[in-house]
Amino acid sequence: MSNSIRLGISGLGTVGAALVKIVESQDAELAERCGRAITITGVNARNKGADRGFSTDNYTWYDDPVALASSDDIDVYVELMGGEGDPALAAVKAALKAGKHVVTANKALLAAHGVELAELAEQAGVLLNYEAAVAGGIPIIKVMRESLTANSVSRVFGILNGTCNYILTRMEDEGMSFDDCLKDAQALGFAEADPTFDIEGNDTAHKLAILTSLAFGTRIAPDAIYLEGITKISIEDIEAARDLGYRIKLLGVATKTSSGVESRVHPALVPLGSAIAEIGGVTNAVSIEAKPVGSLMMSGPGAGGDATASAVAGDICDIAKARPGHQHGPVLGQPVTSLTPHARSAMRSHEGGYFIRLNVLDKPGTMAAIATRMAEQDISLESIVQRRAKGTASSEQAPIILVTHETTEQAIKNALEGVQKDGRLVGEAQMIRIETLG
Ligand code: HSE
Repeated sequence: MSNSIRLGISGLGTVGAALVKIVESQDAELAERCGRAITITGVNARNKGADRGFSTDNYTWYDDPVALASSDDIDVYVELMGGEGDPALAAVKAALKAGKHVVTANKALLAAHGVELAELAEQAGVLLNYEAAVAGGIPIIKVMRESLTANSVSRVFGILNGTCNYILTRMEDEGMSFDDCLKDAQALGFAEADPTFDIEGNDTAHKLAILTSLAFGTRIAPDAIYLEGITKISIEDIEAARDLGYRIKLLGVATKTSSGVESRVHPALVPLGSAIAEIGGVTNAVSIEAKPVGSLMMSGPGAGGDATASAVAGDICDIAKARPGHQHGPVLGQPVTSLTPHARSAMRSHEGGYFIRLNVLDKPGTMAAIATRMAEQDISLESIVQRRAKGTASSEQAPIILVTHETTEQAIKNALEGVQKDGRLVGEAQMIRIETLG
């Protein structure tokens, strides 16, 4: 068997430790499948003495990730530290400039600097693989980067954050509070170091930024994504949606429109019984609508050490299998020079159905006033339901749920401003978009 491929790994947290265990326990199988052995030569992490279930003494320890990334003793630099800036950015750049292949699970880094890093990789003729950065164990990058090259994508959407999906699923199934569900997700190792990145939608946006570029051949543009997390979703929303035949999911959606690309992350109602509505717990799913292939969806574990390390190991094996001197495919599916600027489609022109929950004063004429405000904006209603006030809510108040037919975001905003001016609203209106599925 020819010479082994030597890894330098930065970051020995949940994913890094799981990767080391895969490489250590499956050395013979991996060597067989890749045609050469995979060995770890150097490692680096913040805390040398942490208990990780394996001994770092077997490898050369580096305090400095940049020194490891550019070391003569490695062929592939594996970046599992996370974070958009340094040290991850400096180390990945150093590795690419030193002609090392790079494997990373760092979606924040790629969302912010992916184009620049892709350019460096192309110049150096090395691979930059990042399967684990989007949807953990689901091999979606390979599918979009390679298998769908002959397709024209019209929409890519999915559940891209396991923590949010876990929270929404448990809130619905067990009536648990948002905070308790989040604590459980953190204890299980799904959540980001800073969980606000999960619940405010940033983590989904990072992943969607990468998928949008692969889908539409545009430069990665995380700032062009409309962002709303799940922190304002209540049990009342979840129950009302279910009674109307829907389930609430945090979706990342990128659609090609006549005015550009509409990329958005927000909670959305999806019909009960649809494939995406059935994705529960920490599971992720990515759906692609494209021609000529049609619609396809992949689902699987989107977070957790083993699933994510499986994707990282796959990326390493792809590098091990590549023939030396062989030209590698472009990092973002097409050469960086051919990527187009991301033309952003304004969210106010987003078209779709809407779920609106209003807490109103239970007085004669309230329903008529709301219907008038909707009619003024040419909004057609699919249903309007008054629910019984629950728990400690005043009997003078009543929750009203409206579901609209397709309209524009601007029309909904105007109508809700009108309802607010009428003075019958208690608190703020809740508005959740309904995702139209093919
Ligand atoms: N915190 C992420 C999630 C992990 O919950 O999906 C993978 O990015």
